[in-house]
Amino acid sequence: MDSGWRFHLGDEWGMGYGLSKAGTSYGPGNPAYSDASWRRVDLPHDWVVELPFDPSADTAHGYKPVGEGFPQNSRGWYRRSFDLPASDAGKRLWLEFDGVYRDATIIVNGWFVAHHEGGYNSFRCDITDVANCGGANVVSVRVDASQAEGWFYEGAGIYRHVWLVKTAPLSVAPDGIFAYALFKDGAAKGPAEVHVQTKLVNAQAGTADAAVTWEIFGPDGASLGIRRQSVRLGGNASMSVDGVATLDAPRLWSPETPVLYRVVTSVSSAGAAVDRVETAFGIRTVGFDADKGFMLNGEPYTLKGTSNHQDHAGVGSALPDGIQYFRIARLKEMGCNAYRTAHNPPTPELLDACDRLGMIVMDENRQLGSDERHVSFLEEQIRRDWNHASVCIWSLGNEEFDVQGTQAGRRVVATMQALVKRMDPTRPVTCNAAVGNEYPGINEAIDVRGWSYHVGPDMDAYHREHPLQPNVGSEQGSTVSTRGIYANDPVRGYVSAYDDNAPEWAQTAETWVTYFATRPWLSGGFVWTGFDYRGEPTPYNWPCINSHFGIMDMCGFPKDNFYYYQSAWLNTPMLHILPHWNWAGREGQVIDVRAQTNCDEVELFLNGASLGRQAARRNSEVKWKVAYAPGVLSARGYRDGKLAAESKVETTGGPASVQLRPDHSEIGANGEDVAVFTVSIADAQGRVDPLAGNAVSFELAGPGRIIGVGNGDPSCHEPDTFLPASSSRSLPVGGWRIKKLKDPYPENLPEEGVAFDDSGWAATDVGGETGQLGYRDRAIYRSRFNVDARDLDSAAVELVFGKIAGGITVYVNGHKLGGTVDGRVAAVYDVKALLHPGENVIAVPAASYGADATGMTKGVTLRLLEAGPAVHWSRSAFNGLAEVIVQSSRTPGTITLTARSEGLQPASFDLRSVAATARPSVP
Ligand code: GAL
Repeated sequence: MDSGWRFHLGDEWGMGYGLSKAGTSYGPGNPAYSDASWRRVDLPHDWVVELPFDPSADTAHGYKPVGEGFPQNSRGWYRRSFDLPASDAGKRLWLEFDGVYRDATIIVNGWFVAHHEGGYNSFRCDITDVANCGGANVVSVRVDASQAEGWFYEGAGIYRHVWLVKTAPLSVAPDGIFAYALFKDGAAKGPAEVHVQTKLVNAQAGTADAAVTWEIFGPDGASLGIRRQSVRLGGNASMSVDGVATLDAPRLWSPETPVLYRVVTSVSSAGAAVDRVETAFGIRTVGFDADKGFMLNGEPYTLKGTSNHQDHAGVGSALPDGIQYFRIARLKEMGCNAYRTAHNPPTPELLDACDRLGMIVMDENRQLGSDERHVSFLEEQIRRDWNHASVCIWSLGNEEFDVQGTQAGRRVVATMQALVKRMDPTRPVTCNAAVGNEYPGINEAIDVRGWSYHVGPDMDAYHREHPLQPNVGSEQGSTVSTRGIYANDPVRGYVSAYDDNAPEWAQTAETWVTYFATRPWLSGGFVWTGFDYRGEPTPYNWPCINSHFGIMDMCGFPKDNFYYYQSAWLNTPMLHILPHWNWAGREGQVIDVRAQTNCDEVELFLNGASLGRQAARRNSEVKWKVAYAPGVLSARGYRDGKLAAESKVETTGGPASVQLRPDHSEIGANGEDVAVFTVSIADAQGRVDPLAGNAVSFELAGPGRIIGVGNGDPSCHEPDTFLPASSSRSLPVGGWRIKKLKDPYPENLPEEGVAFDDSGWAATDVGGETGQLGYRDRAIYRSRFNVDARDLDSAAVELVFGKIAGGITVYVNGHKLGGTVDGRVAAVYDVKALLHPGENVIAVPAASYGADATGMTKGVTLRLLEAGPAVHWSRSAFNGLAEVIVQSSRTPGTITLTARSEGLQPASFDLRSVAATARPSVP
């Protein structure tokens, strides 16, 4: 259900549903309400990324005018129509939301169907009873992001996918399959016992017999056997059945071998197939040992992890699935094998990417709590994510300072942990603790002690005092740095990219990595963070608007520390030297040169002359002081005396061209898939200019669109996204006449038709503040008005009644507009298809039920929407680079992206968009 939504920023209608009578929603909650002038959007969508930066807005959330103090930007509405075939009658129908930020109210066909607060949890609503099978349906979603959940950029809107799910009345329950493997000795040796815990629901009144079969397929697609079971389900009841199969020599999932098995669960009843669910799962064991640390498949396994928030350049928190794969692939390139979803449940597609590409996940809950709501959030998270091979550790929360040392904190964590263990017998539980050597409270109850920073004596002392409790470095690092900058600059808000600066509560990369390297019981850890994220600019505020903690910037461009982590985390020989070599004006001055390498010796050369060979210690940089001279600074890395890796930086010759390089050159024509383009400013020899900040403009031709741009500059205030402009004008609809009636329910009258002669009726003014109807009056209003053909060409033509209180329905040229008319808000109808050039007729039968004067007030207008000029995309490069995200449409073909910059050779790239069902294109 991602495509074809309409969006309106604002909240002129309150909640949109009536509390006194069922099915009486108003404003956009009313199915008849016109959204024709609302902006078209496809999901996922984040409206905050579209807002300008504002220095008066909250620093932690990235200076976006949303939330407290900005009510006008904090609430929005989405609407979408969808048809259901008559053959859906009798099925169970669900709308599933992967995530809405936040506080979502869902109305379907005027009926309230769900209210869900949490901005990071998935939820679903059963719409079976209110759906219109064999006709049109409207879902309206009110989103209220007035209140923040985190202290980092969170975005707002329906920023994850929405699904329409249809099942037979007897079926597998939503999230009703849990496939997991157990080994006899727990060490992933010998045969695995695969359990497929299956929850069935019977939504029919009568008892039903059903047969369940489970067929397991190996990573190569071959069937490994079938299990069957017959069950009897009571009416309106659910039950669980467990299919068990033994696999003799299973292939084990790990980041290095991300092999997935698949179980197909089929349900039949009364001789007919009623459900079939495919579930991918992995076979592996995970756990912690107090001495050996994290264990994967029975062996100690060092977590080389990063913690990450969910936003990316260009798109905010609304990531197309392809960007999840792009980000996980970048992390793997760095040698990273683990990902912590700070500080909330992720979108399920991130977990798919981690399953398939091979990335261990610490799946984090948003907030501690053992009340009904928090417990249900945790339960839903576990049930949604438990089949993901990548999910290896549950985290109950992050740095709950205020309750950390309390006995209430201990009890809440114990309750939550017990729930997790009841639901999932396979995974360990931790909680990221922002305290040092403190035991009473949360740390007493938690299985695995999570460490947020505190590298040093606290860790050793704690381990001595609690030698039986396992540990994990759930939040470590974090160097603050800006890509391509080599001196701190508080004015522009940049921090040098040398591994030198960390906040007082944190450590540089080298500090934590070297400390952990000699302490296997710590399990390794998760750096804060893999990617920069919006908000939490540290250590400088405005003009800096995003964090600097990332090993990569907002776009996923590596900072130098990317190579430091490669040197620590990869065994294949690598060597990287920094800084860049463009220091015009600093000839002869000393430059701090460093090498990041896993070789054992490095030799440095300036323009071919050796500057000495130095021994390299694992996990430590090699350093030189070099007097600057333009040219080539190069290095050679040796292992056992043999050349193993090389690296160089060169003085470039100034910007000459723009270059475009996508992450892949073919994408799926499914309206969802993306290519992430690196835009670089190169010199005449094609070398990226590390200082270039040229403005670049983009044009796209063919069946696709640009959805976002970025450059990784933490202080850049240029827009990430460019919206189509539009304008509207209003024409008064006058000439109203009224006739009082006797009919107690005035409907289906000849007066509603076009031809009725109303010339003898009294003229009435509907533009005032007082209505025309007294106590228990009945009446009908009519207007004849002229419309120009030119006006009907507008992008949207809407009929707007300022207010009709007691209105029963509205007829336009004899056509009855659906829905009840509600006096609480303006009534707006899409009449583009109903009006014609020349004279048109509106008729409104009305009734006053109460004592107050009612009728038509505040005037009637035709609102005409004109589309604005075409949108022009642009972005400046930052230190030589920018990023453009291009998305396919559903039409296959060639998408041509062109990038131009004044005075430079432009670039064009032909991206192939091919018919595809799989999404996204996995790199
Ligand atoms: C940690 C916190 C993170 C982030 C970080 C910034 O304490 O868990 O969410 O705020 O500090 O250094």
